[in-house]
Amino acid sequence: MQWTEIVEVPIKAINLKVGMYVHRLDRPWLGTSFPLQGCQVRSDEDVATLCGFAEVVYIDEARSIYAGKRSRPNYSFLTRLVDPEALGRLSRLGYASMRGEDRNSPAPVHYPPAVELAQELPRCLNAWKRTQQLVSRSIARAKTGKPLVLDDIDVEVEPMVESVVRSPDAAMWLTASRRQQPLPYSVTHPLNCCAMALVCGRFLGFPPDILTSVAKGALFMDIGMWLLGRNYQLVRESLDPAGTREMQEHVLRGAEYLRTSGFLDFDATLCVLHHHERHDGAGYPRGLRGAKVSLMGQILHLADTFDALTSRRAHRSEETSGSAQRILYKERDASVPAEATDAFFQSLGIYPTGTLVELSNGSRAVVSGQQPASRLYPKLIVLTRSDGSALESHSEVDSRDLIQAVPSVRIASTMARLATPIPLDRVELRKPDQIVAAHS
Ligand SMILES: [Fe+2]
Repeated sequence: MQWTEIVEVPIKAINLKVGMYVHRLDRPWLGTSFPLQGCQVRSDEDVATLCGFAEVVYIDEARSIYAGKRSRPNYSFLTRLVDPEALGRLSRLGYASMRGEDRNSPAPVHYPPAVELAQELPRCLNAWKRTQQLVSRSIARAKTGKPLVLDDIDVEVEPMVESVVRSPDAAMWLTASRRQQPLPYSVTHPLNCCAMALVCGRFLGFPPDILTSVAKGALFMDIGMWLLGRNYQLVRESLDPAGTREMQEHVLRGAEYLRTSGFLDFDATLCVLHHHERHDGAGYPRGLRGAKVSLMGQILHLADTFDALTSRRAHRSEETSGSAQRILYKERDASVPAEATDAFFQSLGIYPTGTLVELSNGSRAVVSGQQPASRLYPKLIVLTRSDGSALESHSEVDSRDLIQAVPSVRIASTMARLATPIPLDRVELRKPDQIVAAHS
């Protein structure tokens, strides 16, 4: 099969949107009121008519989704910000131009303030394990040519979505924690991307159903890797042109695998199809350009790249969070629009939760939470003294308080890992107390 052929994305007919191009029905066109095979949905009446003929329809996403500016829900033009202060700041940065002018765009959701990290962490850990098992089972099925078990997916993904809605910090903490552990990249990467994409989607006010689609897209965006002749995630040497071509097939092979499994989530499939496309048109598989790449795809591109850079790989060591941010910032308006990069790091924080940092007095600490009004000053848990020896107990400290109490102390740099690892899962999270004594 040629992987540049039309990719049909199956969806339920009731989920059709104006502008989508229906390439095929789950029954012959003969006997329907449509004169030609294939049609573009032009009105809600068309949707109703098609619902009368078919339960499942197959969308040619290349012909429909991008056919016109108003042909699909366009998340690129949303400003879905939770807090009005952030909206004001981002408007000054040019976000006002992203306001929802598209009539197909759902309204942004204003999620309630996040619960404390310590409160959410046990629930997030449980959700994480379930999602990880789902990914492992799905990879095993893909490798043996069996279709996905669809009943599993929503049940196992929902707790993760709900956890991130309650507390982005807990998911980010686990993301950082997993990067410190000797787990295979193929296991940690989909989960880490899922967590980061959800955190960004929550920040932008994506409705819960879109968050679920983004989560599924992140978990399955690389499922096609397991259908190739070689495990490219383990390859150490640079690929020759033939190897590059085969590796890039993972996108369409993955989308095709989802389709043949009966997977009907259009937005999740779009995430899979777009996660290697680029704003400048230099991506793959289609070389889409500009606004033709969905915001969901852009977010996954950023999450994919950020996690790849900050994870230890077969062919290279990991970058620090700060260094990975600098690399992605250099790519603003090339890989994704600048606004998407800004939103991604606004949502994660300058120092994402779970990031290891070195303080100017030599102590090492881990970021335990964000302060939306003061992103340069996150909450910290100090792990070591300035001589590198581990502290026996850990308390959370507001870095603003720390700097006020000990003016010479500030965050000096981010770190990829500690020389003597302290498993983040075992760090006891407690409220602030005796914060200053250990660091002065
Ligand atoms: Fe990929």
